Amino acid sequence: MQTKSLLSFLALASVPLASAGNGNGNGHDKGSGKSCSHKGLDWYAKKAGLKYFGAATDSPGQRERAGLESAYPKYDEIMWKSGEFGQTTPTNGQKWLFTEPTQGTFNFTEGDIVVSLAHQHHKLLRCHALVWHSQLAPWVEAGTWTKDELRSVIVSHITNVMTHYKGQCYAWDVVNEAFNEDGTYRESVFSTVLGGDEFIQLAFETASKLDPQAKLYYNDYNLESPSAKTEAVRKLVRQLQNKKIKIDGVGLQAHLTAESRPTLDEHVAAIKGFAELGVEVALTELDVRLEMPANATNLAQQKEAYKNAVGACVQVDGCIGVTIWDFYDPFSWVPAVFPGEGAALLWFDDFSRHPAYEGVVEALTNKTQGYNGKGPRGVKRWVA
Ligand code: XIL
Repeated sequence: MQTKSLLSFLALASVPLASAGNGNGNGHDKGSGKSCSHKGLDWYAKKAGLKYFGAATDSPGQRERAGLESAYPKYDEIMWKSGEFGQTTPTNGQKWLFTEPTQGTFNFTEGDIVVSLAHQHHKLLRCHALVWHSQLAPWVEAGTWTKDELRSVIVSHITNVMTHYKGQCYAWDVVNEAFNEDGTYRESVFSTVLGGDEFIQLAFETASKLDPQAKLYYNDYNLESPSAKTEAVRKLVRQLQNKKIKIDGVGLQAHLTAESRPTLDEHVAAIKGFAELGVEVALTELDVRLEMPANATNLAQQKEAYKNAVGACVQVDGCIGVTIWDFYDPFSWVPAVFPGEGAALLWFDDFSRHPAYEGVVEALTNKTQGYNGKGPRGVKRWVA
C-alpha cells in the first residue's frame, strides 16, 4: 500500500482552503516568527509529560507539490520557529532509495538537509527507516541473493547509515512494516530470502552495535487498535527480548481515517499492550485523512480521531511522544496514495488550522473523555 508513483503527485486535485474553517486561534503570533507568547503543541505535550510533539518534514527538493515555493517562508516559520514542534523526522531522505541508491554507494544529501535543520533549530530527531520493503533501492529487490549475500547487504546498509548519523538520532526505525494484517510476515526480498524472524533479528542486532544513544524501534501502521497485527508485533518484541537483542520501542504510525477512527479505549489498549512489555511507544506518523471535500462533519470526526490518538498517548505511561506526518496539507503524502482522500494534517493550504488542532490541545490538556487527572488510566499531569 505504501508504494506510489512520484508522477502522480503532479496530478493531485487541490485540497480545500480556509472555507473549511478553523476559527480557533489561541494567540498565535502570526507571522512574527517568534515563539514567545504562543504556547505551541510541543509546549502542551511537555506539560503533559511527553518528550515531544513533532512534525515530520521533507527536504524542499522532495516536497510533494510543485509550485508552492511561495508558501515556504510561512511553512518554515511554523515548522522550525513557532514552537509548535519539538521534534522532527525526515519523511524520505534517510530511506534506502536515497541513502544507498546503488550497492555500496552512499548518499546522505537529502537526509542531511533535514537533519541539519533539526540541529539548527534544536529539534529532537527521529531517524527513519533502515530496513523497509518500500522505497527500497531497486538493486536490492532485483538481486538474486544467497542468504549470506543478503545478510551482508543488510549489515552494510545499516552500518553505513547509522554510522553517518551516529549520535544524532533520538531513535531509529530499524525495521518498518514487516507484517501483514493477519500477523504473518509480509512478502519482501528480506522475508523471502532470510525469513521474517531472521532479517528482523539481524537488523536489530546490527543496529544495537552502532549507536548506543539511539533507541531502536519497530515501526508499523494499523497498530492503533488491538488486532492480529498488534499481537504479532508483541510476539516479535518478546522474541527479541528473549534473545537479548536490543529493542527499545514500538512506533505506531497512526495513519488514520476520520470516518472509521479507533476509539480512545482501543488506542489505550493497543498502546498499553506494547508498553507493558517494557518498550516505549510513540505515535510516529500521525495523520487523519478524510473523504474529500472537507466539511463540518468529517472535520469534526477528524478532530475526534486526533483527540483520541493523542489523548491515549497522554494517558498511558510509556507513550513518549507524537509525530504528525508533516503538518501542512499540501505536503501530505495522502492524496497521492489514497485517491479522493486528503486534508489529513492540522494546517490547511492557507495555513489556517483544522479544528483538529484544538482536539490535540484538548487531549494534551487532559480533556480526553474518561480522564480526570486522578482516574485509573491517568498517569500524566498537565500543569497549568
Ligand atoms: C511516505 C512519504 O511521506 C512520501 O513522501 C513517500 O512518497 C512515500 O512514503 N509509512 C512510512 C513512511 O513509514 O515512510 C511513508 O512516508 C508513509 C507510510
